[in-house]
Amino acid sequence: MSERIIELRHVTKSFGSVNAVENVSLHVERGEVLGLIGDNGAGKSTLIKILAGVHKPDSGEIWVKGRQVTGWNAAKSRDSGIETVFQDRALAVNQSIVRNIFMGRELTGPFGLIRVRKQLEEADRLMREIGFTSKVFNPKSLVATLSGGERQGVAIARALYNQADLIVLDEPTTALSLMETQKVFTFIQNVRAQGRSIVFIGHNIYHVYDIADRFVILDRGTVVAEARKAEVPSAESLIADMQSIARTGHVANEVGLHTPVETPA
Ligand SMILES: Nc1ncnc2c1ncn2[C@@H]1O[C@H](COP(=O)(O)OP(=O)(O)OP(=O)(O)O)[C@@H](O)[C@H]1O
Ligand SMILES: [Mg+2]
Repeated sequence: MSERIIELRHVTKSFGSVNAVENVSLHVERGEVLGLIGDNGAGKSTLIKILAGVHKPDSGEIWVKGRQVTGWNAAKSRDSGIETVFQDRALAVNQSIVRNIFMGRELTGPFGLIRVRKQLEEADRLMREIGFTSKVFNPKSLVATLSGGERQGVAIARALYNQADLIVLDEPTTALSLMETQKVFTFIQNVRAQGRSIVFIGHNIYHVYDIADRFVILDRGTVVAEARKAEVPSAESLIADMQSIARTGHVANEVGLHTPVETPA
């Protein structure tokens, strides 16, 4: 079995009377793209905010690379190699690519001076690593001049800068055209090729089906189904099963989806 970068066990999080996440067990394996799907309000963003240490779960356990972690918070999440590109936190579009990548964690030399040249080199390297091919852009280009897909690329480069083992992307392709979505997919595939993991949240099941190796479906705060891509014949069958889940509350079992199996502690 491949290594689990992170694992949530029976995690619950409520906001007042809203059970945003309820008894969720979920893990991410090294080198996989995990697609997290579910309707508006299903708890996807809340779940990844728990992974990021932004929200403290009310109950449940968090395990990192086989060890239980206590006092989970944003610093521990980052130290554990988890970087999140949040749905609701945009880049500074009137700043350069390099400024965005290093914002808040600049490379500094003696006397605290920012190592501008080093940052430019590093930004250039990161952009190439994830697959920026355009000759029009360089690290000094303003983010405002980039397309939507390329902006996601900058956010991914920013996440990669920290040598992340896991990059979490909350709806990175929602506002993008087909071509731009393909760019983001290329970035993701390059990240996975380095043996890193991705959690990809999306509304568009076709997008998620294309890019993910494994799917987890959330419905009103709980994991209702999961499957490996090899078990699901097509995006259409994934959609059909999700509709049946929404209607009946459980999996129809005709396709590869199955209700989650408890992992032994
Ligand atoms: N900070 C918060 N305070 C109060 N309620 C919240 C908070 N964050 C989320 N919720 C509620 O928790 C539930 C799950 O929200 P969440 O944002 O996790 O859903 P989501 O699956 O990401 O939805 P979407 O697809 O619309 O982004 C919703 O009912 C939401 O209103
Ligand atoms: Mg969300």
